[in-house]
Amino acid sequence: MELNSLFFLCSASLLFISLVKIVCSNRRKLPLPPGTLGWPYIGETFQLYSQNPNDFFASKVKRYGTIFKSHILGYPCVMISSPEAAKFVLVTRAHLFKPTYPASKERMLGKQAIFFHQGDYHAELRRLVLRAFMPEAIKSMVSDIESIANDSLQSWEGRQVNTFQEMKTYAFNVALLSILGKDEVPYSEDLKRCYYDLEKGYNSMPINLPGTLFNKAMKARKELAQILAKILSTRRKMKLDHKDLLGSFMSNKRDLTDEQIADNIIGAIFAARDTTASVLTWILKYLGENPSVLEAVTEEQEEIIKGKEKRGDEKLLTWADTRKMTITSRVIQETLRVASVLSFTFREAVEDVEYEGYLIPKGWKVLPLFRNIHHSPEIFPDPEKFDPSRFDVAPKPNTFLPFGNGIHSCPGNELAKLEMLVLLHHLTTKYRWSMVGSHNGIQYGPFAVPQNGLPIRLSSKS
Ligand code: HEM
Repeated sequence: MELNSLFFLCSASLLFISLVKIVCSNRRKLPLPPGTLGWPYIGETFQLYSQNPNDFFASKVKRYGTIFKSHILGYPCVMISSPEAAKFVLVTRAHLFKPTYPASKERMLGKQAIFFHQGDYHAELRRLVLRAFMPEAIKSMVSDIESIANDSLQSWEGRQVNTFQEMKTYAFNVALLSILGKDEVPYSEDLKRCYYDLEKGYNSMPINLPGTLFNKAMKARKELAQILAKILSTRRKMKLDHKDLLGSFMSNKRDLTDEQIADNIIGAIFAARDTTASVLTWILKYLGENPSVLEAVTEEQEEIIKGKEKRGDEKLLTWADTRKMTITSRVIQETLRVASVLSFTFREAVEDVEYEGYLIPKGWKVLPLFRNIHHSPEIFPDPEKFDPSRFDVAPKPNTFLPFGNGIHSCPGNELAKLEMLVLLHHLTTKYRWSMVGSHNGIQYGPFAVPQNGLPIRLSSKS
């Protein structure tokens, strides 16, 4: 009897091993997605950067369809550009695709920052970040954001400004408010200076030798961590309870280390600034080019002021006012679609994955191409046309992904939308602006922005 069981066990094991082998060899037999890998090592990196990256991706999609392979920045990649594939990678099979960034970027932003993690540590950080940025938490910030917006606009009046640079300052100040609260204003100039150096190094060659931009950026990062350590120590001494992101991190029961907090604060400011600033810059360009849309936005914003006057409400904007800005919100959505400032993101397959009969090999990078989904004529007819009314009907699931999707989707999206609405309210009701010089080109660094940051002249309506 015992021998029989042993025999049965051995046969079953052999059968199992053979089955696994068959499945594995089938996996190996699966074809790779269509496409070309280009030259050894450099792959198609030059093709990608020698032209507009969007043209590179669009020509590949046209030739190979919504899933294709390539080789860029030293890695073999699979690029995907259908809503279903984006859902597969970012939502339903998210555990098979980990976020991945070049090691130099991880070092610069801080290895413990939320973007680079999966699992329990990521879930815990995400809970803390969402707590600080959910509508309930940011509602109380409307009037402070409003005063930052008014100060910015007043400072541009009567001179030529680089819209993107000015929007960066605005988005930076709002980010500081939401992340560190109002008390840390004395540090804001030092923080700004460090960020400026960090940013210059972020897009430079990662060579850490004295004098290089990368080296300066690493020093700036160190200084940022020191400033944050000072703020942390003051808050601990004073035993103050803050509702901002830093407060959320500090109130966590399973204590985060100072290094983990610093990496996540630096990362959040980084995630918040250039993204929001480039979207705002595109909004000014599209409104400037579409006078009827600008008129509709202005009317909507003037109605809000008139409504408040009629009711005898305070002049300051409230969260409830921002919920009435339907047309302005459509303009923001359409700008997020057309400009697609984050045109794709990176993941890495943690094991061999089969998708639609193709093999995505373990270790390969996977790039969901948000911009190509947003510019697909099947999903958004006449995709190059700026038409905010297309958002009168909610887009189908997984077709509109300016803030990503799934467990790594943007936790700051409500704040981003709020600060855009507040700025647009004051801009359209009090000022007029004109674009200076040609405004047709695009520059990438790394986010797409209009050429030369969109120089404009702003003047008061009154
Ligand atoms: C219009 C402005 C913004 C855009 C277009 C944007 C877009 C995105 C996208 C696409 C992702 C997901 C990336 C991925 O899946 O790989 C993301 C993640 C993230 N964003 Fe934003 N973002 C914006 C503003 C903000 C703001 C204002 C904040 C914070 C104050 C913020 C904080 C973050 C953080 C912390 C993550 C990482 C989340 C995680 O890994 O779990 N973002 N953002």
